[in-house]
Amino acid sequence: MSETAKITIGSKTVEYPIIQGTEGEKAIDISKLRADTGCITLDNGLMNSGSCKSAITFLDGEKGILRYRGYSIDELAEKAIFREVAYLLIYGELPNKKQFKEFCDRVHKYSSLPEGVYKILDQYPLDAHPMAVASSVLAGLSAFYPQYLKNDLSKEEKDEVMAQIFAQFKLIISYYYRRTKGITERVPTRQDQTYAGDFINMMFHKPGFTIDPEISRALDILLILHADHEQNCSTSTVRVVGSSKANVFAAVSAGIDALWGQLHGGANQAVLEMLEEVRNDGGDVTKAIAKAKDKNSGFRLMGFGHRVYKNFDPRAKIIKVACDTVLGRLGVKDPLLDIAKGMEAAALKDPYFKERSLYPNVDFYSGIIYRALGIPTEMFTAMFALGRIPGWLAQWKEMTEDPMTKIVRPRQIYTGANQRPFIPMDKR
Ligand code: CMC
Repeated sequence: MSETAKITIGSKTVEYPIIQGTEGEKAIDISKLRADTGCITLDNGLMNSGSCKSAITFLDGEKGILRYRGYSIDELAEKAIFREVAYLLIYGELPNKKQFKEFCDRVHKYSSLPEGVYKILDQYPLDAHPMAVASSVLAGLSAFYPQYLKNDLSKEEKDEVMAQIFAQFKLIISYYYRRTKGITERVPTRQDQTYAGDFINMMFHKPGFTIDPEISRALDILLILHADHEQNCSTSTVRVVGSSKANVFAAVSAGIDALWGQLHGGANQAVLEMLEEVRNDGGDVTKAIAKAKDKNSGFRLMGFGHRVYKNFDPRAKIIKVACDTVLGRLGVKDPLLDIAKGMEAAALKDPYFKERSLYPNVDFYSGIIYRALGIPTEMFTAMFALGRIPGWLAQWKEMTEDPMTKIVRPRQIYTGANQRPFIPMDKR
């Protein structure tokens, strides 16, 4: 007999099934709780609530495990390329040569944006935050492709629109960057390059520019590490928006907005700003650590801690190595890297961080790599989004294909005023 959970409220006891995942994780299916007892569950920040079943990404925060479709992140970072990982996330299996070629051909069809989108991009202030540009232009793309606004897209339409978003996001942010440098020339897609190599070329192309394979490989790895992370804030946002049957452009655009915040993807920008602040303040790591521990300071050690990882973030380990590779290859000596390493060492020894299981996360070292590549600090979170696009698309696709999907509509515990009579303004 399958396992059940009993809940007793007053004199009533109800029994609910326990659902088990393929890695042994368990959940109590409380979907009948309110109907049976009049109670709902209250779970601030949804720290303890599953919102869906998903076969895309598995992570075990206690053991520091992250796998996409069963493949460990270490193995994918070592052996796969980003486009292959995008296919894996979206379609569930690693592609064979034929499938991969078909996927790449489909993606490469979208090597430019509609003319109107370039005109829109040209209207943003030159100091516009790239996440504002990314989110609004992505939502705006839906106006140029009305065929995808209907409900229940066919398989072929989904394949097409996902390939399009995967290809065009890179065009949006690289065009944005070049425009801030006063260059509006459009750089053609390099089909002979990896996704990262093509992106680097789109960003920095000028006569005589060559793409360094070691650098483009490091960036491709970085994108792989960011590609999915199960039901995090931005992915949940994509699913919440998509659950209303809003179109995929709207859902992914909303995900970009959720990622922007500094407790989520925005942490990579915040880390760099924090390291710069520490350097400008004389480079005193101990002082910064003390400030992060002081609850009244309003300051947190950015790039540290994670809602799920309570041992270490496996992505951070790989990124630290990539960071050394990139800086070594480019011959960059970045004092911020020394400060970052000093802060990490100090925090890992400190009882405050140890007791709370706070370790460096994916954002701690990624910014130093982006900075070495010449990517401006305010663009770091858009780089995170560039990597996360396939994950959002995969989660959107899975949600649209899941017969159990319902519009997400949580309940609440109301804590406001009880009913009271209206008082006319002259009597208030
Ligand atoms: N610096 C100092 N103290 C911290 C930090 C930090 N970075 N993170 C957590 N704490 C403390 C927090 O004050 C609390 O202490 P206490 O128990 O005494 O009240 C305890 O640790 C638990 O923190 P929490 O805020 O309840 O934990 P959470 O799971 O809600 O938050 C987090 C997770 C990632 C938002 C948080 O660790 C944080 O703010 N980190 C800094 C921002 C950051 O790096 N975000 C990127 C996350 S990884 C990329 C991604 O996937 O988005």
